[in-house]
Amino acid sequence: MSDAIFPVPAQWAANALVDSTGYEAKYRRSIADPDGFWREEAQRIDWIEDFDTVRDTSFDRDDFRIRWFEGGKLNIAANCLDRHLAARGDDVAIIWEPDDPADAGRKITYRQLHDDVCKFANALKAHGVAKGDRVTLYLPMVPEAAIAMLACARIGAVHSVVFAGFSPDALAGRIKDCQSRIVITADQGLRGGKTIPLKANVDAALEKLSAQEVAVDTVIMLRRTGADVPMVAGRDVDWADAVSGQGADCLPEIMDAEDPLFILYTSGSTGQPKGVLHTTGGYAVWTAMTHHYVFDYRPGQVYWCAADVGWVTGHSYVVYAPLMNGATTVMFEGVPNFPDFSRFWQVIDKYQVEIFYAAPTALRSLMREGDKYVTRTSRRSLRLLGTVGEPINPEAWQWYHRVVGEMRCPIVDTWWQTETGGAMITPLPGATALKPGSATLPMFGVQPALVDNDGVELEGPAEGALIIKDSWPGQMRTVYGDHDRFFQTYFTTFPGVYFTGDGCRRDQDGYYWITGRIDDVINVSGHRMGTAEVESALVSHPQVAEAAVVGMPHDVKGQGIYAYVTPMEGIEAGEELRAELVKWVRKEIGPIATPDIVQFAPGLPKTRSGKIMRRILRKIAENDTTNLGDISTLADPGVVDDLLAGRPGPK
Ligand code: WTA
Repeated sequence: MSDAIFPVPAQWAANALVDSTGYEAKYRRSIADPDGFWREEAQRIDWIEDFDTVRDTSFDRDDFRIRWFEGGKLNIAANCLDRHLAARGDDVAIIWEPDDPADAGRKITYRQLHDDVCKFANALKAHGVAKGDRVTLYLPMVPEAAIAMLACARIGAVHSVVFAGFSPDALAGRIKDCQSRIVITADQGLRGGKTIPLKANVDAALEKLSAQEVAVDTVIMLRRTGADVPMVAGRDVDWADAVSGQGADCLPEIMDAEDPLFILYTSGSTGQPKGVLHTTGGYAVWTAMTHHYVFDYRPGQVYWCAADVGWVTGHSYVVYAPLMNGATTVMFEGVPNFPDFSRFWQVIDKYQVEIFYAAPTALRSLMREGDKYVTRTSRRSLRLLGTVGEPINPEAWQWYHRVVGEMRCPIVDTWWQTETGGAMITPLPGATALKPGSATLPMFGVQPALVDNDGVELEGPAEGALIIKDSWPGQMRTVYGDHDRFFQTYFTTFPGVYFTGDGCRRDQDGYYWITGRIDDVINVSGHRMGTAEVESALVSHPQVAEAAVVGMPHDVKGQGIYAYVTPMEGIEAGEELRAELVKWVRKEIGPIATPDIVQFAPGLPKTRSGKIMRRILRKIAENDTTNLGDISTLADPGVVDDLLAGRPGPK
C-alpha cells in the first residue's frame, strides 16, 4: 500500500471527456436510472433494429437471467468496419509491428480491413461455416487473427481463440469442449526470435481428438514464416487459397443482441477451464463505452494495447472496442525484451503511440533492467498509460509513472476479468486522482461491494470478498454447455450477487485495492491459472501419486507456481524426476504453467476427512512458516515437519 496521491493533471481536467464532477454525476445516474443511462450509451452502436427492453436481469436462483438490449439487432463486425468506411475508410485501423523490428510492418486501413474480413468471411462460408458454428482460432499476433475474429462475427459464427502458447493437449480440450469442426492457424508463430510450431501443435491435437472420435474436417493455415509443414490432403487449406477468388463484400449476418459472439476458455478454481460465453449487444456497448471513457479515446490517436488476442484483453481492447471506436490499434507480435529491453518504447516512438496499455509483469521485468533502456527513447507522444491483469505494486507503478510517462501521463489501473468483458473498477484519466496500486473507483453501472465470509456487506473502509451487486451489459452469459456450472461458480458463494473470486480492500476515500484471488486460482504474469489444472497435469504423470499446487510471491511474475508432489512408492524423488515433471507440465498445458518450485513431499497435510489443507501449503510456499495456524485437525500433524524440512532454499 502506498499513501501517495496523484491529482488529475490540470490539462487533463480541462480537456477530458469526463472530469470529476462529470464522473460523479454520470455514475449516480447510471445506478439511479440504469434504463435511461444504458439506453443513451447504447446509441454509440449502430443497431439494425432498435431494442425493446434495456435490461432484464436477476441473480436470484429462481429467477436467474441476464439479458440486455433484447429485441435489438446488430452486427458487431459491421460496427467495427462498415460504419467507418464513409468518413474514415482511409484511416489506419491496424498497425502491425512484427517480431523482428528489421522486418516490414503493415498498416491496414479500415477499407482494406473491411475487404479482408469479407473475403475471409466468404471463405469460411465456402467451407460450410454457418451462424452459430464454433470456430477455433490458434494464431500468433498477426492482423489475420483480428481478421478471422471479425469474419466469424460477420457471419454469426462463434469464435473460440486459444492462446498460441497453449499445448496440443490444451488446444484439443478446447476444440472438443465447444465441438468446433474447423481450426484456423498458422504454419509457425514467431516471438522473440523463436518459432512456435503452431501447425504441428494443431496436427498433434487433432490426432489426439480423432482417437476420441472428435472430427475436425477443416484446418485453414496462414503462412507466417513459410516453414515447410506437412499438409493433410482434404483437410488442410492454405489461407491464401481459401480467400483467393472470394469477393470483398459479405453481407453482415443480422444478430440478436443476445446471440453468442465468442467463447474464451479461462481457468477457475476447480476442474478444467470453462468456456466463458459473451453475447453480442451488451458486449458491444460495454466494451465500446469503457474504451472510450477509460482511455479518453479520440479518433486519430494511435492506441496500443500490448495484450495477446489469446486473452480477453486482446479481444476487448486490441480488436473489438478500438475498432468500434474507429481507433488506430497497434498489434505487436513480439515480446518486450527482444531484440532488447527498449522494444516497447521504440515501438511507441516509431508509431507515435499516445495511449499504451500493458500488464504489470512486463513492466516489472523491464524495470529490473534499469532506466537506460527507457530514457534512450523519446516517448514524447505518450499521454496516457494503463495496466491490467494483476495488481500492480506501488514501486512498479511509480516507475511507470516517473520513468516511462515522465510524470505527465496518468495511469489507468483497470480491474476486470474474462467474465466481465471490460473494465469494471478503473480510474478515468480526467476525473480520478490516482493512488499507486489502487484500481480506484467503479465504472458507470458497476456496483461493487465487499462482504465478509458470511456474505454480510461491509460498510466504509473494510476488507473482504469483492462482489458485484447487479448486472452490467458486458457480463458473461453462461459457461458454454454448462449453465449450471455458471450459476454454481459465480452466484452461490454469496447468493443474489456475482462473486468475483477476488479479495479487496476499500479505503476511507472509497477507493478499491484488489488484493488478489481468494479462490484456488493463481495469477502468473497476468495469466490466470487454476491450481487444479496444474495438479491434474502432475498426477497424470505415471510416477506421481499426489500433487498439490499453490501460488507463491514472485518478484516479476506476481505469483509463481509452487508444486508439492508425492511420488509413487519406490520412485526416487530426485533432480531427474523434478526436471521431468517441469517438462511434463509444459507439455500438458504450455510454458505459462511451468512450475517454479517442485517440492517432493512424502505426504500432504490432510484433514481426517482427507481434504488437503492448502492454507498450510501456501504459508510454506510463502516462506511464512512461523505461524502455520492450527494444525491439530490434521490426520498426521507430522507431515508438516517433513514439509518444512523439505522446503528448498533458505529456511
Ligand atoms: C486479476 C484479465 C488487480 C484479478 C482482464 C482478476 C487484477 C483476474 C487487475 C482476471 C487489476 C485483473 N488489479 N488484479 N487491475 N486486473 N486482475 O480473467 O485477480 O485473465 O480476477 O482477466 O486478474 O483475470 P482475467
